[in-house]
Amino acid sequence: MDNNKDIKKADPGKTARAEQRELRRKEREKAREAKKAEREERARERAAKRAKRISAKEEGRGVKDIINQGLQELSNMEDVSDATGQFRSLLLEQLARIDKMEQSAAPKDFGSLDVIKIGVCPGDGIGPSISEQTERVLRHLLAPEIESGKIELIAINGLTIQNRLATMEAVPKDVLEEIKQCDVLLKGPTTTPKGGSLESANVKLRRELDLYANVRPVQVPELGIDWIFYRENTEGEYALGSKGIELPGKLSIDFKVTTEAGTKRIAKAAYEYAVANGKTNIQIVTKANILKKTDGNFSRICHELALDYPTLKLEDWYVDIMSAKLLDDKRRRDFQVFVLPNLYGDIITDEAAEIQGGVGTAGSANIGDQYAMFEAIHGSADRMIEDGRGQYANPASLMKAAAMMLRHIGYIAQAERLEKALTEAVDAVKLTGHDDGATAAEFTDYMLERL
Ligand code: IPM
Ligand code: MG
Repeated sequence: MDNNKDIKKADPGKTARAEQRELRRKEREKAREAKKAEREERARERAAKRAKRISAKEEGRGVKDIINQGLQELSNMEDVSDATGQFRSLLLEQLARIDKMEQSAAPKDFGSLDVIKIGVCPGDGIGPSISEQTERVLRHLLAPEIESGKIELIAINGLTIQNRLATMEAVPKDVLEEIKQCDVLLKGPTTTPKGGSLESANVKLRRELDLYANVRPVQVPELGIDWIFYRENTEGEYALGSKGIELPGKLSIDFKVTTEAGTKRIAKAAYEYAVANGKTNIQIVTKANILKKTDGNFSRICHELALDYPTLKLEDWYVDIMSAKLLDDKRRRDFQVFVLPNLYGDIITDEAAEIQGGVGTAGSANIGDQYAMFEAIHGSADRMIEDGRGQYANPASLMKAAAMMLRHIGYIAQAERLEKALTEAVDAVKLTGHDDGATAAEFTDYMLERL
């Protein structure tokens, strides 16, 4: 082999050709590498362009998100700022109400009035039926006073759901004016639409006439029950019940209001009644373990005021356990005078009325310093009218309210006569709400025969 090598080296023509081949090979290789570099360069450029495109796209998307999020936050802030503005005006409105309460005039003295004007508002549903019968009894009992002009019974017929829907006013202005011309009001139940924005006529009247004490007696002598409820009537959940705040699609907030002045005056009314009627046990009903501000303060104010009434013994109850204890035969006999914030008073008094024989059997007085309104504690029972059973409605609750009204204006003897005749009629005349029972008119005839 070594030999052959030597021989090749020795051929100069062959060497030159080989060198040329080698040269061409190197040139081809160089050209390939240049092309490859060119390709790589183009690929790099393409990749860079693509990367740029992608990042621009992503950047675009990010900007959109940021803008959307910003807009959302802005609209939330606008909603929150609207709501805060609304809340601020509610606070100012309530402060103005407190000022009014603190400056209120001395209570009306019925004894000193030349004429006592009693407005009669039949209301909706079964209202006209039971009002008509109650008015018959009143006209009978007050005949001499009506005759002499000392008492006027004034019909106020405009407080109907039709008028209220037509004007979209809880109590149409002209009707409110008529009512304000009277001293006291006997009112049948009024219908309150669920939802929407039309406020309950009751709630509006209680607020407009500042009827702060809702007084509801419940008696079942055979069970040892002799209760009287002092339900706060202008505050609590009712004060701003139609003025809650909503961020549509997100949340809604309603408010409960307790004021020092409002709580003091309902507690005072209850304590004065207790002392004047030889009662010593006062039940304060709240849910102060949960609603620490409103109910907590309600209870505190009741206790503070009670320091001026040393004969009274106060007990604090939560509304849930109180609703149970009203059914506890041993415990409930000790209860005498209840003081409750508005909504608990609404609920607990329906329960108490049911123990007495049904919500149709209890009367309700809404007392303020200048006006007072007396009503049944039940609703307008529109279903009875739809079924054509209006004449079978039980007028006893409104009759009880009328007796409370007579007491309030100082006609105690007439109130007692009404109550006695009513008790007799309840025992003797069976009302079932259907045609197998008596009608409201037959029930009233029975009463009138005994008066
Ligand atoms: C009542 C009634 C009212 C109330 C309604 C009719 C607004 O239930 O007098 O107890 O909730 O106070
Ligand atoms: Mg009620």
